[in-house]
Amino acid sequence: VPTGRCVVAVDGPSGSGKSTVSRRLAVGIGARYLDTGAMYRAMTWAVLRSGVDPADAESVAKVAGEADLRIGTDPQGYGVTVDGTSVDAEIRGPEVTAAVSAVAAVAAVRALLVARQRDMIANAGRIVVEGRDIGSVVAPDADLKVYLTASEAARAARRSAEDATDVAATAADLARRDRLDSTRKADPLQQSADAVVLDTTELGIDEVVDRLRDLLVERGVA
Ligand code: DC
Repeated sequence: VPTGRCVVAVDGPSGSGKSTVSRRLAVGIGARYLDTGAMYRAMTWAVLRSGVDPADAESVAKVAGEADLRIGTDPQGYGVTVDGTSVDAEIRGPEVTAAVSAVAAVAAVRALLVARQRDMIANAGRIVVEGRDIGSVVAPDADLKVYLTASEAARAARRSAEDATDVAATAADLARRDRLDSTRKADPLQQSADAVVLDTTELGIDEVVDRLRDLLVERGVA
């Protein structure tokens, strides 16, 4: 089993199966795992805690610049802290989810987090990184770029099962976030031309993970 450098970029909209696929793939190939969405969520938590309006880009950038954000990279369980406070539960809550697209649209926040992500990738060597701009911006030289999709109905059903929320409300919220994440000026969600595109509506998670692993073996990095 190769142990050298191996960077896998996994992008796609929310509910596409990114997190489950990325974590299982990381375990399977003996790599670290970085959830960049959790970093944007943690910054959003810091913004809400400070009482700053998430739409006020300048104040948001200031809060982000001062927050001490730490995130683990163990695919079997990682913690996120802001200024020493554990925020693992809070960053999945409805307040953060409602405000995160606004915070993630602030160019200064993205610059800060992209730099952190690049450092973590360089230090880890073998790592699966999931987000929206990993193949396009954070790690354009990744060994494998993956773009996961799924039908809107499948994505809403998965998210509402995970969060124990109403499917119709989840579908509306997903559509709103997809629109904001895909149309923002700074690093929008986009499919890299060289990404392997997999639709997880019908494919099982294990099948997707197996396919990606096969591709890495073919490329000599797993
Ligand atoms: O994957 P997630 O739902 O936890 O991501 C939360 C939000 O963060 C999502 O609405 C878009 C944003 N995000 C981003 O802009 N860039 C990333 N690399 C990851 C997430």
